Amino acid sequence: MDKLIIKGGKRLAGDVMVSGSKNASLPIFIATILAPGAHEIRNVPFLRDINTTIKVLESLGATIEGNGNVVKIDTSGLNRHEATYDLVKTMRASVLVLGPLLARFGKARVSLPGGCAIGARPINLHLKGLEALGAEITLEHGYVEARARKLKGARINFDVSTVGGTEQLMMAAATAKGETILENAAREPEIADLAEMLTSMGARIDGAGTDTIRINGVGELQPVVHSVMPDRIEAGTFMTAAAITGGDIRIHGMRPDHLDAFIFKLQDAGAEITHKDNIVRVKGPRKIRSVNIKTRPYPGFPTDMQAQMMALMTVADGTSMISENIFENRFMHVSELLRFGADIFIEGNSAMVKGVRKLSGAPVMATDLRASASLILAGLAADNTTEISRIYHLDRGYEAIEKKLSGLGADIQRVKEG
Ligand code: EPZ
Repeated sequence: MDKLIIKGGKRLAGDVMVSGSKNASLPIFIATILAPGAHEIRNVPFLRDINTTIKVLESLGATIEGNGNVVKIDTSGLNRHEATYDLVKTMRASVLVLGPLLARFGKARVSLPGGCAIGARPINLHLKGLEALGAEITLEHGYVEARARKLKGARINFDVSTVGGTEQLMMAAATAKGETILENAAREPEIADLAEMLTSMGARIDGAGTDTIRINGVGELQPVVHSVMPDRIEAGTFMTAAAITGGDIRIHGMRPDHLDAFIFKLQDAGAEITHKDNIVRVKGPRKIRSVNIKTRPYPGFPTDMQAQMMALMTVADGTSMISENIFENRFMHVSELLRFGADIFIEGNSAMVKGVRKLSGAPVMATDLRASASLILAGLAADNTTEISRIYHLDRGYEAIEKKLSGLGADIQRVKEG
């Protein structure tokens, strides 16, 4: 396994390009199931989770060829309807194949995803929504068995805002008979990106990006060429890197309007943020101010930026309160941040972070994707050397992050462990 070695204390400077969005790419790849034929997906990030999604589609019978950040997916030859446990346990987003397989073939057998480092993350709302569309769902031996002669439109109200649930039902409803209304739908930009692709395929979808989405089922969908939106969480991570190192960087290819809540908080913390077209300049403050954070569904502060913001707050002037309101166990980075000399106290779903003058580099271990990013940020700011192990977590969601950070002047390298 690889590890990262970081010599902290360098101010980042220069230009960096954001890759395509992991969380938009995964449902977009899976939506190709809905329309037999040759699809072309562009601006695809080179990530472990993308490779896993490719394996899932190939296991169903799709043929896929990748060339850099362009991936061609032909789903004409789909002839299997099962997503196996070994694939789903690797990447829970694989459960999104349920709706498209039901819509296209009337049947699907998909492993339940099981637990995850950051929480139980059930899929009950996915299954409840598919039943509302007329699917028969049974659970046996850790698998979801689903059948539906023809999905029919329905009115669905989500108990909680669920990104995956909204994506699953939007895809399933695209060719269902009649109208489907999704109420209390998730509003994340990745959902609007998926809706844009489905609309290009011939779907009739209104309201994506709002909390009420109307889908009028159509007879069939056509294969499509679609370019994935930029990754807003990668962009936010680089913005935080500039803030924590007192740097001055320009981030190219990002959509600042996808990160309003986070940008407001980073400005409150003292960062100077300006943007022209899709280039955002971030100048880190001499003194970082402490701010309070509550994670919320979009357009609130994104849970996927909580760990990164906590790293910044460990060296802020003052005390900040960070509450995680989306997942029940998303503080795994805290114990590793304490190894840098951070001062953090957890009570329930809140963490009290008292800023310290300086972090000191240490050997630490990544536990999940965004926790890995927070350890990198702490390492960039800490004095002397930090070693981060188990960075396979990081490779799930960040394309060549050590190369991009080196390009900004960080002293960071990937080495083989052991
Ligand atoms: C997506 O996960 C993202 N993953 C996550 O990003 C992100 O943190 C999350 O949305 C919230 O924004 C992808 O898009 C691949 P949810 P998802 O369904 O869809 C509960 C990252 O770091 N819930 O919006 O799985 C659930 O337990 C990853 O890139 C149910 O109770 O999240 C959670 O508390 C991590 N029942 C809340 O809803 C359900 O059926 C939000 O989950 C579904 C969800």
